[in-house]
Amino acid sequence: MKRTHHCNELRPAHVGQTVTLSGWVHSRRDLGGLIFIDIRDREGRTQTVFDPSDLPAELFNRAAALRSECVITVTGPVRLRPAGTNNAKISTGEVEVGVVSLEVLNMAEVLPFPVDDPEAAAKVNEELRLQYRYLDLRRPEMARNLRLRSKVATATRVFMDEQGFLEVETPTLFKSTPEGAREFLVPSRVHPGQFYALPQSPQQFKQILMVAGVERYFQLARCYRDEDLRADRQPEFTQVDIEMSFIEREDIYALIEGLLRRVWRTALNVDIPTPFLRMSFHEALNRFGIDKPDTRFGMELVDFSEEFRTSTFKVFSGAIANGGVVKAINARGLAAATQGQIETMTEYAKSFGAKGLAFIKVENGEWKSPIVKFFSEAEKNALKEKLAIAEGDLILFAADQWLTACEILGKIRLYCAEVLKSQGKLTIPADQFNFLWVVDFPLLSFDKEQNRWYSSHHPFTAPVAEDVPLLVSDPKKVRGQHYDIVVNGVELGGGSIRIHQPDVQRTIFEQVLQIPPDMVKARFGYMLEAFRYGAPPHGGIALGFDRMIAILCGTPSIRDVIAFPKTAKGTDLMTDSPAPVEPKQLRDLHLELKVARKE
Ligand code: AMO
Ligand code: AMP
Repeated sequence: MKRTHHCNELRPAHVGQTVTLSGWVHSRRDLGGLIFIDIRDREGRTQTVFDPSDLPAELFNRAAALRSECVITVTGPVRLRPAGTNNAKISTGEVEVGVVSLEVLNMAEVLPFPVDDPEAAAKVNEELRLQYRYLDLRRPEMARNLRLRSKVATATRVFMDEQGFLEVETPTLFKSTPEGAREFLVPSRVHPGQFYALPQSPQQFKQILMVAGVERYFQLARCYRDEDLRADRQPEFTQVDIEMSFIEREDIYALIEGLLRRVWRTALNVDIPTPFLRMSFHEALNRFGIDKPDTRFGMELVDFSEEFRTSTFKVFSGAIANGGVVKAINARGLAAATQGQIETMTEYAKSFGAKGLAFIKVENGEWKSPIVKFFSEAEKNALKEKLAIAEGDLILFAADQWLTACEILGKIRLYCAEVLKSQGKLTIPADQFNFLWVVDFPLLSFDKEQNRWYSSHHPFTAPVAEDVPLLVSDPKKVRGQHYDIVVNGVELGGGSIRIHQPDVQRTIFEQVLQIPPDMVKARFGYMLEAFRYGAPPHGGIALGFDRMIAILCGTPSIRDVIAFPKTAKGTDLMTDSPAPVEPKQLRDLHLELKVARKE
């Protein structure tokens, strides 16, 4: 029997037709001699009714033996449900199929967790879900995520094609270039002692494609990074990777705004306003304490360095005398925080390098704080005015070097927002998307431990043209032509205008990043050479595809939008990978283990 309809198709208009449906036993109820089975396929579900007077006894008994998730095909007439038994929750809820024939395609054992009940599923331990991912993916919420992912991938390809981009595949057996995250290595059998590396991104290939005259490249590219995993990071993930020739930053902004508009319209039927707001790295840190600000709520950082410069409270005036700043946030509604909660926050701040976390609670018209006794009237008035202090407020301070103070309060701001959300004092509409370009990043950052400069983004990012003369003399001042696209506090993507002049690129490698010339030659020689044969000016960007889908699906974890993700420890619980290999395989690869082989 071949299916005639899918399980989300039948409506009152089909009444009287004989149809065949195939799918899984979603749920089963035995009522007064009748058996009701909801049959489910990827489109939805339909109620079927087994009545012993319509069916041979043998078939009825088989239906009685069916369990959840058995695979069946049923045939029978479509009819209206008896009055009062409609199910408004499903689109086939007005009809049912009276079964006259049943084929059991496969039986199912008792499941390790239910797939038919979203509330029960939400309580299932994620490791169990990952071990039985094929069952987890049957859950309608997960099936919806996969479907949305596919739809967005197609919309992306169509949009990029319309804009004249070519999708070009680049190798995943690449070469080790240890600049950035840790890499996965692949030993070569044919070349003893030599290794490929899996690419962290197609960065170098896409730039070479510009030298090759492709002009407009994109790829839904798989990337590999051996980093500490979090909810928004996986060791293998997908980028919408893009590169263009003969462009400036503005061209990338316009392209990505167009792409994101298309994606949001396709996935959510939402029109996002463009152009997006732009904010400098400095302003983002100064106001929100982070380079990917969530601008959906306020609680901005306010500076009090002038007011406390000569304060008798030495923690503040001392920090300012040391070249630092005093900053504060007002967490409205958190004055009720207990001593324990404030200590937890202080410990949290200290884990990011804070020396303390001074606070004022405003309760019953009083400022409760161990430090206000040190404050002058003028200092108190300044706080009251600039933070608009009112009953119920909790004021939190950081006194430190500018970057440290900003970053600490940035973390505390997000922490307070989570607490306020959980207490119902802060609500952010689910359909609000605050897109933002963060621009004017410093090209270089200084690594105190290694006593050298490293690229804030990657070494191919071009300096802002007027800052090029400062590259060697004053690297701190050089701004990069880098941009990040941020939405609701998530770094969705980043990119830059690249260096296309071989001499500037060589200066960055050798004089600024202090990579020895022979190493530059070994790692990047082919790029420097390619740039000598007519490299067009070019630039690009990569969007984190998994992160974008997670935002569209409204889930905090990218694991929910990847069919077969890894755990936080980098393991695949379904296939049980990574796993040991046979000694012969190691010998073939010219490898010897230094650890005991785990069985
Ligand atoms: P970058 O390293 O910023 O830039 O990566 C671009 C975007 O990829 C996503 N992303 C990740 N998603 C999931 N898991 C991960 N481990 C992970 N790491 C990064 C983020 C990030 O914004 N070649 C450059 C781009 C360019 O310059 O054109 C690059 O890879 O959303
Ligand atoms: P102390 O004088 O060190 O006991 O600190 C008094 C208060 O100021 C305590 O609440 C500390 O948590 C806080 N504090 C100390 N150092 C800093 C700092 N650098 N920034 C903000 N608060 C601080």
